[in-house]
Amino acid sequence: MRWLLLYHALCFSLSKASAHIVELNDMFGQIQSPGYPDSYPSDSEVTWNITVPDGFRIKLYFMHFNLESSYLCEYDYVKVETEDQVLATFCGRETTDTEQTPGQEVVLSPGSFMSITFRSDFSNEERFTGFDAHYMAVDVDECKEREDEELSCDHYCHNYIGGYYCSCRFGYILHTDNRTCRVECSDNLFTQRTGVITSPDFPNPYPKSSECLYTIELEEGFMVNLQFEDIFDIEDHPEVPCPYDYIKIKVGPKVLGPFCGEKAPEPINTQSHSVLILFHSDNSGENRGWRLSYRAAGNECPELQPPVHGKIEPSQAKYSFKDQVLISCDTGYKVLKDNVEMDTFQIECLKDGTWSNKIPTCKKHEIDLESELKSEQVTE
Ligand SMILES: *[C@@H]1O[C@H](CO)[C@@H](O)[C@H](O)[C@H]1NC(C)=O
Ligand SMILES: *[C@@H]1O[C@H](CO)[C@@H](O)[C@H](O)[C@H]1NC(C)=O
Repeated sequence: MRWLLLYHALCFSLSKASAHIVELNDMFGQIQSPGYPDSYPSDSEVTWNITVPDGFRIKLYFMHFNLESSYLCEYDYVKVETEDQVLATFCGRETTDTEQTPGQEVVLSPGSFMSITFRSDFSNEERFTGFDAHYMAVDVDECKEREDEELSCDHYCHNYIGGYYCSCRFGYILHTDNRTCRVECSDNLFTQRTGVITSPDFPNPYPKSSECLYTIELEEGFMVNLQFEDIFDIEDHPEVPCPYDYIKIKVGPKVLGPFCGEKAPEPINTQSHSVLILFHSDNSGENRGWRLSYRAAGNECPELQPPVHGKIEPSQAKYSFKDQVLISCDTGYKVLKDNVEMDTFQIECLKDGTWSNKIPTCKKHEIDLESELKSEQVTE
């Protein structure tokens, strides 16, 4: 404090009319009108610029205040401001309708900077003792202050002296924005012929800042059909198509979508055995997401007629890719295929929609009956 007073004394005795700026960077301190506790000089101006570290605010309060009173404090005053905003202007000895003294009031800066200017005009008829003020850095509870803001922590907020940080619920990862919680969902492979795919956490709101990838990969010959459920809720925009969150469906070089909003897309017949579903979410919004079921249908094979004196199992109206049927003959008949007799014969529906073989015929089985008799005689 001593150097400050000395500095003031020096400044004011040497050059009264010019303004002085004092830079303060301490966590707390005291500022006083020039010459305090003696009366302050006329025609002087001093500015104290206080800067504290980020994450702190500055609290200013007055222990003593005694300045000349003037209408709207136009002559002598103490003005407290930030870079772009006047927080308070004080003058006089007591508060009136048009002038304010600080009294017990505490001035709190919105950020980590506060500028205090003391000014006196050229003539003071009376003796005014000026002011004695103290300031201190106070921690900002960012968690409380940002609670309702768009840019608050996504899941959990932790305040500490001078700052804060965010963390995420189990299973989530903090995004590089240090604020939103994303999930790892880029590695989902579906190889079954039917299945259900949903956005993460469905039907609870899907995570922010996530890039999800779902691959449906089946054997060639299958064609994937997608059917979205009615509950469909992806953040959208009234004018711009899907600027925030969206689904895109990739089939070979073709891209379907983007899809967003509250109306589910119509069923999609992809005509492909390999489908990629991309789901992108940005760093804000609370939407429920989506759910779809898929079904892979194979190419259909032509109808089958069982051979005369034979049957086909299983017997159904339609056969498609991968279906297998077994042909067998009535008692006393044998399947004849390429001149070879056998009990049963199997054919399969191929990926191009043709049968792997023709339906064999059933032939009356006499020769074998004789040879069986013979072999029985031999063994006897
Ligand atoms: C002190 O603060 C005032 C008000 O914000 C500003 O105009 C001025 O440039 C600052 N001076 C310094 C040296 O930072
Ligand atoms: C996130 O936090 C890390 C470590 O504290 C920091 O290095 C990085 O700059 C921060 N990123 C953003 C976008 O604030």
